[in-house]
Parts: sequence; C-alpha cells; structure tokens
Amino acid sequence: MIDALPFPQHIAIIMDGNGRWAKERDLKRTAGHEEGAKVVREITIHANNIGLKYLTLYAFSTENWSRPKLEVEFLMKLLERHLKDELPMYLENNVRFKAIGDLSKFSKSLQKTIKETTQKTLHCSGLTQVLALNYGSRDEMTRAVQAVVQKGMEITQESIAQNLDTQGMPDVDILVRTSGEVRISNFLLWQCAYAEMFFVQKFWPDFSKYDLDDIIDDFTKRERRFGGI
Ligand code: IPE
Ligand code: IPE
Ligand code: MG
Repeated sequence: MIDALPFPQHIAIIMDGNGRWAKERDLKRTAGHEEGAKVVREITIHANNIGLKYLTLYAFSTENWSRPKLEVEFLMKLLERHLKDELPMYLENNVRFKAIGDLSKFSKSLQKTIKETTQKTLHCSGLTQVLALNYGSRDEMTRAVQAVVQKGMEITQESIAQNLDTQGMPDVDILVRTSGEVRISNFLLWQCAYAEMFFVQKFWPDFSKYDLDDIIDDFTKRERRFGGI
C-alpha cells in the first residue's frame, strides 16, 4: 500500500557544522554555536507558521561531553541563556517546549530552567519544539526498557515506545542533517525507522527557512511504501 503523506507531522534535525562554520571565518567555535542558536529561533518560528506539529532538534548528545571542558561549559551556558531569552518567543508564537534526553546530568540551575520553560509553555497548542539535550538513542532505549521492566509491563513495541522520552509523539517523517556528514550519530534510532532522510551540505548557521521549505517540498513528492509495494 502506498502511504504518501501530503505534509510531514514530525521533522527532526541534526544541527551540525557550527564549529566548521566558525573556523571558515577565523572565528572561535563558540561563535558558531551562538550563530546556530539564532537559526534555531528562525526555523522554529517558520515551522510553527507553516503548521508543523513537531520539530525535534539535536542540541547536545550523550557523546558531546567528550569535547574540551571549555566548549562544554560554553554550550551549557548558551543553552540556559537561550531558553530564558526564548520564553517570549514561545509564548508569542504559541509554541510548546519539550526536552528529551537524560536531564539529570545537567546542573540544578539548568534543570530548573528546562522545567520552567516546559511548564510555562505547556498550554501552547501550536508547534512542539523538542530539544534533544544530553540525548543518545541507545541511552533512551535502555532507560525505556528499564522502565518497562520496573513497571512490570510486558516488553512489546508499544510498551517500549510508551516509555521512550518521545512517548505520545508521532514517528519522525523527515530527518535532516546539515554540514555534509552522512550519519545518524545516535539520534532517534527507534523513531526514525521509516523517516525520509535529507543530508544538506550547508553548515547549520547557514541553514534557512527556504532550505526547510525545499526539503518539505521534496518530501511531499516522495513515495513512502512502509514495506509495502
Ligand atoms: C553542532 O555543531 C553543534 C553541537 C554538536 C553542539 P558542531 O559543534 O558539531 O560543529 P562541527 O561539526 O564541529 O563543525
Ligand atoms: C551530532 O553532532 C550531535 C549534535 C548535533 C548535537 P556531532 O558533531 O556531535 O556528531 P559527530 O561526532 O560528527 O558524529
Ligand atoms: Mg559536528
């Protein structure tokens, strides 16, 4: 059976290339992350305006702790500042914020900011912007199976899905990765089982709403078979 979707419900993006964007300009890697955060806002507002329901953005992986201490510290500070600065944007645009990943590894202060942003935007009914923070798919699946066992539930596809951080969200329709790298890097392995993949050459700070429109346009022309013919 052909099951082509006219419009995606869930787009996930591996926002890659901030460091290389900065290096090309003789800037520090941190300048690339600052610029990348601005693009997060542009893409979020645009995704909401065109009626997308879920946008999941990979912001910090479980493997990113292995970066130099100063870069990790910078990213933590940027994240906290970004969430605080963006609260008016979420509220003005009716965008709900949600975080996935193991948040327990973050500072108390950052955890509090994440919790507050989640709570203050809970009533918003437009786009849900999901930030993947200290997120790794293997970690998420392991935690999900542990939860299933702990609750005494039977291990089934449904019970695992219900205990993933993404519970209640639709599977990913479109997976985008910027910066020319062609890999998944431990992102949404379960949820991307039938995602259409788009690998873009541009570095994340150069990605624009027009690039997103082109991808959606291409997606609507693809044929998804889901194993059928
Ligand atoms: C993506 O850009 C942002 C994070 C992983 C936090 P990178 O920092 O990975 O940039 P490159 O890939 O080194 O250019
Ligand atoms: C993936 O990018 C993680 C995020 C975008 C947050 P990386 O730059 O960490 O991935 P690798 O190391 O190139 O696979
Ligand atoms: Mg990278």
